[in-house]
Amino acid sequence: MAKKDCTTGGIIVPKSVRTWTDLQVNNHFELYTHAPDVEAVEDMLQMDQPRNVLEIGAGLGRGSMWLERRFGWKKTNFWLADGEGRQRPEVRGLNDKEAPDAFYNSFIGARTFMEANGVEGERIKFVDMTRASRKDEIARLRKSGVKFDLAYSFRAVGFHWPTWEALNMFHEFIKPNARVVLDMRGSVLGSKADRAKGRLPKNQRFCQANDEGVRKDGRYWVEQWRECPAPDSGLGNWVTADHCRAYMVLRRK
Ligand SMILES: C[S@@+](CC[C@H](N)C(=O)[O-])C[C@H]1O[C@@H](n2cnc3c(N)ncnc32)[C@H](O)[C@@H]1O
Repeated sequence: MAKKDCTTGGIIVPKSVRTWTDLQVNNHFELYTHAPDVEAVEDMLQMDQPRNVLEIGAGLGRGSMWLERRFGWKKTNFWLADGEGRQRPEVRGLNDKEAPDAFYNSFIGARTFMEANGVEGERIKFVDMTRASRKDEIARLRKSGVKFDLAYSFRAVGFHWPTWEALNMFHEFIKPNARVVLDMRGSVLGSKADRAKGRLPKNQRFCQANDEGVRKDGRYWVEQWRECPAPDSGLGNWVTADHCRAYMVLRRK
C-alpha cells in the first residue's frame, strides 16, 4: 500500500517520515499516535512548562511530541539527541563497552514530524551524538548555557549503547535534582526483587558499570524502578514483552 500522510489520534505523520517511523519502532505505528510506553510514566515526567528538556536517542521526537501535547508544553525547547544514518544495528543489549556509531535517524525527518504537529522550529534543537561530533557538541552546549529540567529516553539508551555513556555525557547539563527517566529492556534487568528494593541489578556487566557510574561518584540516585505494564494490559506485546520491562527513574545529584 502506498504510504501517505497519516493522522490518527490527532498526530500527523507526514509521508516523508514514514521510512523513519517504520525503522525506529519496528512498524509499530501505533506508538506514534498513542505512545502508551511514554504514558506509563507520565506522572514522573509531568511538570509545569519546563524550559528545556532532553530526549536521548530521540528518533523523530516521538516522546517529546507526546509530552508536548499531553502537558501543553507550548513554551518548552525540545533538545533531540541522536545521529544521522541508516545503519540499523543488531540488537546489542546492554553492556559496558562503547558501541560503534549506529544511527537510523534523520534530523530533517525529526523536524518535519515535530513541525507538522505544531512545534515551532525555534523550539526544536538537535544534539549530534556521532562520536566525531560529540566534543564539539559538548562545547556548543556549554556555550549555550543550557540546563535541562528533565531528560528521558524510550527504546534507545541502553539498547544500542551503554546507559552510563549518556548519563556521563549529559550530567553537567542536567539541573540538580532533575529527573532522568529511561526504559530498560527485559533481558538485562536482573531480578524483580532487586528492583523492588530500588537496587540496580547486579547480575549484568553493564549494570555493574552503570552502578559504579551512578553510585560511586554519586552523580545520580535511583528514585524508582517501575515495572512496565503487563503483557496482558491491552497495550500489545510490542510495548511490553519485546521491549520495555522496567523504567529506571533517576535524579541528578
Ligand atoms: C528504537 S529507535 C527509538 C527512537 C525513539 N526514541 C522512539 O522511541 O520512537 C532508537 C534510536 O536511537 C538512536 N541511536 C542509536 N545509537 C545512538 C547513540 N549512540 N546515541 C544516541 N542515539 C542513538 C537511533 O538512531 C534511533 O533513532
